[in-house]
Amino acid sequence: MDFENIITEKKGAVGVLTFNRPHALNAFCAALMDEVTAALDGFENDDAVRVIVVTGGEKAFAAGADIKEMAEKNFPEVYKEDFITRNWESVARCRKPVIAAVAGYCLGGGNELAMMCDFILAADTAKFSQPEITIGTLPGAGGTQRLTRLAGKSKAMELCLTGRMMDAVEAERAGLVARVFPAAELMAETMKIAEKIASFSPLAAMMVKESVNRAYETTLAEGLRFERRLFHASFATEDRKEGMEAFVGKRKALFKGR
Ligand code: CAA
Repeated sequence: MDFENIITEKKGAVGVLTFNRPHALNAFCAALMDEVTAALDGFENDDAVRVIVVTGGEKAFAAGADIKEMAEKNFPEVYKEDFITRNWESVARCRKPVIAAVAGYCLGGGNELAMMCDFILAADTAKFSQPEITIGTLPGAGGTQRLTRLAGKSKAMELCLTGRMMDAVEAERAGLVARVFPAAELMAETMKIAEKIASFSPLAAMMVKESVNRAYETTLAEGLRFERRLFHASFATEDRKEGMEAFVGKRKALFKGR
């Protein structure tokens, strides 16, 4: 598919989506988000893709929602179109694992989209913030909710109330970022991690993702019950049998997603 604001590539079993609007530091205009949704739907429906990587450029992962496009909107418009919903939440709807590889600015809606991914890998150049308060508003794509769950109330409150930028080391310490790499190694390290996940059963990966996400939505007892049932369900898959037999037979497992 031809896109104007993003680039998509398939590297083996990994689908890579790169924001490509460098003149605006990859700010998310509506056209870009429509393309993100179309690209993710394509990866989701392609059995050859087992893991998705979302990334930006060296200077910016994304500097947030497009302020120029947003500036003239009014309440009836944003309410009626349910602005920042239809084409923004496609990342959160993905059932395959989605990794955010972040270098440079990761601000506002950029950080919110990164947090919709399953985990964030950061270059040592990455800078994270929720600067919406500096333009008279507040995060609108989950920043106050996901950042609070990831980094805790105090950190989230301080970041959202001041709009200040946090570097990659602080972001890792705060629990926002899973791992930090030197900028030059970010994509190679991200691909290694994506390929490793892609080598496992895609059904097991989907179940892990669904179960970890359930931890945010429910009580511990219900979450444990959910996990146990999915664990039981894995016994209905050929991949579970293959994985265990391969271990016992001292050979490499070949997972087929069945
Ligand atoms: N929207 C639209 N355009 C943007 C943009 C944004 N979020 N961020 C940067 N740009 C544009 C700039 O306007 C500039 O365009 P021109 O060359 O046409 O002037 C170009 O990208 C380069 O940006 P700068 O010249 O500003 O680059 P810089 O290196 O001096 O500064 C920056 C970089 C600190 C990231 C600065 O661009 C900035 O503060 N950007 C805005 C960040 C922000 O407030 N994001 C939150 C958006 S609101 C949101 O996301 C709502 C939500 O929760 C969904």
